[in-house]
Amino acid sequence: MRNPSFSAPIVAPVANSYPGLLRDVLSGMGSLHKAIPPRWFYDQKGSKLFEDITRLPQYYPTRCERTILSTYIREIALLLGHNRVLVEFGAGSATKTSVLLGHVLFSEYIAIDISGEFLRESIASLQAQFPHIPMRPVEADFLRPMELPHTVLQRGGVGFFPGSTLGNLSEAAAVNLLRTFGDALGPDSTLLLGIDLLKDEAILLPAYDDPQGVTARFNLNLLHRINRELVGDIPVSAFKHEVRWNEGLSRIEMHLRARYDVQFRVADCSFSMREGETIHTENSYKYTVRDVRLLLRAGGWNTTGFWTDPDGYFAVLSAQRVPIGSDQEYSAD
Ligand code: AVI
Repeated sequence: MRNPSFSAPIVAPVANSYPGLLRDVLSGMGSLHKAIPPRWFYDQKGSKLFEDITRLPQYYPTRCERTILSTYIREIALLLGHNRVLVEFGAGSATKTSVLLGHVLFSEYIAIDISGEFLRESIASLQAQFPHIPMRPVEADFLRPMELPHTVLQRGGVGFFPGSTLGNLSEAAAVNLLRTFGDALGPDSTLLLGIDLLKDEAILLPAYDDPQGVTARFNLNLLHRINRELVGDIPVSAFKHEVRWNEGLSRIEMHLRARYDVQFRVADCSFSMREGETIHTENSYKYTVRDVRLLLRAGGWNTTGFWTDPDGYFAVLSAQRVPIGSDQEYSAD
């Protein structure tokens, strides 16, 4: 539904920014319930702030996932096999990748991320640590269909999707993405997925609303980015970071709430927001292990193993691509 507080652009003046950012911001801010997809958090500054989040004591996912990977790496390595191509989707700082590279022999490592400069820096330091493995940073949005180098199909791809990024998508989008991964990685591929599990709200809320204010800066940085890249004049101090637990949909929601009535312009379009109105910036779905297995199956993958941390906060799952047209695709093991 369109929002009457939105006025159409006279010209589209924006250069040197991602065209998708302009499209998503104008359409998201022009809706009745304003929303901007979370992929736009990750400019250079946003990627750095996310790294700071992962080091917060309240943000348990990174710590738990690292514990799981280092504890069960031998078991995981057996399922991944050797001499295959490792493809990491949304590699970012690629900090967990070193656990895999240290225990499994890959013929090549392809790291895909939307934040190119940040990715290249991370891969340069990883390459120094593992000089014998050819590494390729690829600046791309893995949410779009992608074609991977032919070596992936020749040797078999191992997709690595850690950090519960799948949880930032709706179920339907998550299933589509899992299918996109399967298509890109090929018929004989394996997926290693990290996903955050459903837990008490008393643990979830502080993980997304830390008293140090790092997550608030991460959320508000989106507005700074829009001002910078889309010639905007959003008064950032007029907005407040807000976190909600949506029990019915089993997700954490992040919003930016207007502290008072505001008016601003972005890329020659005028917007107004009432006090208390929000821009919905992120969903972070929390699953049970059974939900994730069903999600994987719907996305064309068969779960072959799963591991959790001692508190059961986070899970890592391995999955094998279901052969297209095989009985397995319809069976219910
Ligand atoms: C990247 N993603 C899995 C994070 C999450 O937990 O949903 C993003 C994040 N947002 C706020 N804190 C962390």
